[in-house]
Amino acid sequence: MHKHHPDIGPKPGKPFRVQHVQQYFTAGRPLTMLTAYDAITARIIDSAEIDMILVGDSYGTTMLGMSSTVGVTLDDMVRATAAVAAGASRALVVADMPFGTYESSPAQAVDTAVVLVRAGAAAVKLEGGRRILPQVKAIVNAGINVMGHLGFTPQSENHLGGKRLQGRSDAAPELIADALALQDAGAFSIVFEMVPAATTRAAVNQLNIPIIGIGAGPDAAGQVLVWTDMAGMQDWKPSFAQVFGQVGAELKHAAQNYRDAVVNRTFPAPENYHEN
Ligand code: KIV
Repeated sequence: MHKHHPDIGPKPGKPFRVQHVQQYFTAGRPLTMLTAYDAITARIIDSAEIDMILVGDSYGTTMLGMSSTVGVTLDDMVRATAAVAAGASRALVVADMPFGTYESSPAQAVDTAVVLVRAGAAAVKLEGGRRILPQVKAIVNAGINVMGHLGFTPQSENHLGGKRLQGRSDAAPELIADALALQDAGAFSIVFEMVPAATTRAAVNQLNIPIIGIGAGPDAAGQVLVWTDMAGMQDWKPSFAQVFGQVGAELKHAAQNYRDAVVNRTFPAPENYHEN
């Protein structure tokens, strides 16, 4: 059941902004976020009043057939961000800074963030904690909203030894120290990916910015999913995702119906063309 909080959030027809993220968080209203990589999907997700759309670098693995996110380029992200920004009128558009575009220096990070904001992003997301703090500070100082990303950070999959839970018991204090450092550096929110629920809960109790969880348990202030996992676009899904609709099966069904109609010569029908 959709619970309305009439006094918070943007006025009808107005965009959802970072201030509304904090407003929802303070009011205890869970924040919703889905990925999108193109205008038509962004339009549909936006019309469902999802608060934030993440132009994730999962673009590479979901849409471009890559085996990891490290091959995604800034040009890829610019094209996807511009498309999503064109399709979304309400949601806050957050663009991922791809691998290799911010690690070298704060100046490199600011240059990348500026390119993504020019493409239409209202905020940028980058992976890492204290090791990228100068970058986060520099981007915030440039007047750009920053979302952090801790826990399993896919761009460092090789370094982390594979796709596995991060921040378990002994490692929890380090992860929380990273989260506090990002908060102090000016991040408005932090994604926690594949983090034990107990660690997320401990972080929630210490932070005054919202954690957006993916595989991080029920205590995060909001949840994010990759839209293709959420909508059942393929047979496989990560264990932390839930399938909320069978869009993949429906698309296949539509393609089969189209194929049959063409083969049986029932399409195009008279209403689909002009004789003269
Ligand atoms: O790229 C992405 O989709 C992400 C989410 C998994 C948080 O970073």
